[in-house]
Amino acid sequence: MTAHNSRATLMVPDSAAILKRFYFLLRELVLMQAGWMPGTAHWACKLLLPELLWQDQQTVHALRQRVLELRYPEREIDLSPDERLVACWHHLIEAPQPQAFVEALAKVVKPLLKQVFTTYLDRADALDDGPTVRILKIALTDIDEQLGRWDEAIADARKVYPELIDSTNRWLEGLKSTWLAAIGDLLDPQSSADETRFSPAKFGGKPFAISRLGQRDKRFRLVRFGWPDALDPAFGAGEGMQLQIRQAVHHINEVWAAEMAAACIYDLGAGADAEFLTDAARWCYDEIRHCRMGYTRLSDWGFKMSEMPLGSFSYDAGANADAITRLGIIFYFESTYIHTKSKRMHYFGEFGDRVSSHDMDFDWADEQIHAHYGSHWLKYFLEKSGDPRKPIDFRDQSEACVKAIRATATEKEKKELMETFEQTMARAKELIGA
Ligand SMILES: [Fe+2]
Ligand SMILES: [Fe+2]
Repeated sequence: MTAHNSRATLMVPDSAAILKRFYFLLRELVLMQAGWMPGTAHWACKLLLPELLWQDQQTVHALRQRVLELRYPEREIDLSPDERLVACWHHLIEAPQPQAFVEALAKVVKPLLKQVFTTYLDRADALDDGPTVRILKIALTDIDEQLGRWDEAIADARKVYPELIDSTNRWLEGLKSTWLAAIGDLLDPQSSADETRFSPAKFGGKPFAISRLGQRDKRFRLVRFGWPDALDPAFGAGEGMQLQIRQAVHHINEVWAAEMAAACIYDLGAGADAEFLTDAARWCYDEIRHCRMGYTRLSDWGFKMSEMPLGSFSYDAGANADAITRLGIIFYFESTYIHTKSKRMHYFGEFGDRVSSHDMDFDWADEQIHAHYGSHWLKYFLEKSGDPRKPIDFRDQSEACVKAIRATATEKEKKELMETFEQTMARAKELIGA
């Protein structure tokens, strides 16, 4: 008896080998997107990276589970025999600048993954391998949506930073003409990838180093400290409309926390348990949502980008720290200021500002998970590296880092900060009138 045999293309070991490869490639992509996030200035691109790397991480997580299921009872997933393929894939990080990196994602990498996942689905059997089919269908839906969002962000980036277009085009040309051939067929069980066939330098690429200073879009009102109480906590948060504006400015300035989470992903992700990436990607995405909350409220109130004060000192404070201390800094800030979130949710609600109240409520829900992430992973990395410090020790160290940066504020910067504050409040009053 012979039934339709088109269903029987891939056996379990074939599927497991290919899905394992997808897992490693996407995981690498999560790390690379995190690596480029702090160094990306263009606003829409900066906002997209954490969100989309979090989406990709959902697929990474699901693929990992699926590979483990198919290879049960094995619990380890090793890279072999795809070391050269991943080395070749990793060349993507060596883009000349952030614009080239994100355009490569949108114009080369994601379209390639779309095509490869689609071909895999054509070969997979929806009956026997149903769980994989669902994972890849969701991944494809994500990719389609991502491509549309990247298109929009990139069109704007090309207008705002036209000076990056030439080097971006050269990089894209190199990927299309050489890199794609060097990685070979992603569905071939015997990968023929050869990382030496693509030379990044030939197309303007360069060795990658994560930016330890937070890059900001030039269209904002750029300051080192976003609001007076960021430089001097004794200034206080204020009340009424001042607190509304202050909270929105602090929210948009949480871009620093998304950068710090991205740096933790990049610095610590490759050597950690798989769950770390899932938690840290979510953390990074949450912080960029908090940042977007502030940006959206300010925009809705009528502020232009040039009227929104944006700084980077909290991320920059970790520039000379080690990777675990950077994780400690974000943990310290999260646990220190968490109580203000629910207080302000109530305050804004009573005050009649339902949107600020709503944003604070969801922010608070996120922060409670982050406090857990912080203490759990800090303990994990300290134990793993035999570091005798305890999570509580980071209080002093974080405060010292921040104090050191505050101490560098010049008289001129202090004066500018107060001018920024006064002009922002004056503009708020004007907008009420309008
Ligand atoms: Fe936050
Ligand atoms: Fe947080």
